[in-house]
Amino acid sequence: MSRALLNTCRNVTRQYRSPLAAPFSTSAHRLHQSPAQQQQQQQQQQAGKTTHFGFRDVAEEEKESLVHKVFANVAGNYDVMNDAMSLGIHRIWKDQFIRSMAPGPGTKLLDVAGGTGDIALRFLDYCRNIHRDSTASVTMVDINPHMLEEGKKRFQTTPYAHTNQADFLVQNAEHLVDIPDESVDVYTIAFGIRNCTHVDRVVKEAYRVLKPGGRFMCLEFAQVDNPVIGKFYDIYSFDVIPALGQIIANDRDSYQYLVESIRKFPPQADFAQIIRDQGFKTIGSGYEDLTFGVAAIHSGFKI
Ligand SMILES: C[S@@+](CC[C@H](N)C(=O)[O-])C[C@H]1O[C@@H](n2cnc3c(N)ncnc32)[C@H](O)[C@@H]1O
Repeated sequence: MSRALLNTCRNVTRQYRSPLAAPFSTSAHRLHQSPAQQQQQQQQQQAGKTTHFGFRDVAEEEKESLVHKVFANVAGNYDVMNDAMSLGIHRIWKDQFIRSMAPGPGTKLLDVAGGTGDIALRFLDYCRNIHRDSTASVTMVDINPHMLEEGKKRFQTTPYAHTNQADFLVQNAEHLVDIPDESVDVYTIAFGIRNCTHVDRVVKEAYRVLKPGGRFMCLEFAQVDNPVIGKFYDIYSFDVIPALGQIIANDRDSYQYLVESIRKFPPQADFAQIIRDQGFKTIGSGYEDLTFGVAAIHSGFKI
């Protein structure tokens, strides 16, 4: 990215910092909390009172509605912004995610936090193109009806409209009340789990709904190990992405939350352990880094 574009984004960031943005932290320096701050935050979390919403501590009960507002705000621009923010790279990650899944004919997928349907569509396309299969099916669930509406509109223009291969349900990933025990072959959650209040409950629900032998797969932002790339990535995240949110979607705050939430998600090895703690068996480390660890694919089997 040229220096001129970076400067433009920084200027937009300064100019448009919303007076309402107080709940959102405003710069990358908060990435590095003091040990005292970290200890205080840990104590509060252990007491079960707070969780994080980006860099801000909020009451656990509050997070769901804050996240709901973010995705209600971004739903209409979600696909355009995804391409702009990731320079299209999210498409490569999602393609790789489905290739790693390598679903067979007739696979029954539950795509949780399915949003506008990127994973569901790629899954059905894979089954159709690789196996000439039209018996595979996907249930997309999301807590936010605005996001699912965008997904439904999109499906209308695909070969899966008016088939029984795709359906949509509003559900919380932490309580999949309409999904029976041991009913799906594969469970996916892409860029969704970091927005949930209790990550362990999400993984526990995944275990419940999977058939024995079924597979849990998660695509999520992760932690970059290389300090040089990490520095560049921080500048891009905190100076460019919120500014793009302002320019393209007239919404800086939601994108500030998105970049902050990425930094609050556990590192790859810790999340792999959470997956094992809920009963899944992993192969090797249980995850594969993508693009220097900007994102990672996690996988576990219910055996
Ligand atoms: C970043 S989008 C990802 C959408 C899609 N999976 C993708 O990869 O493009 C995150 C999605 O998670 C959903 N979400 C957040 N919290 C959730 C929860 N507790 N249960 C279900 N979905 C949730 C949001 O509504 C949003 O649609």
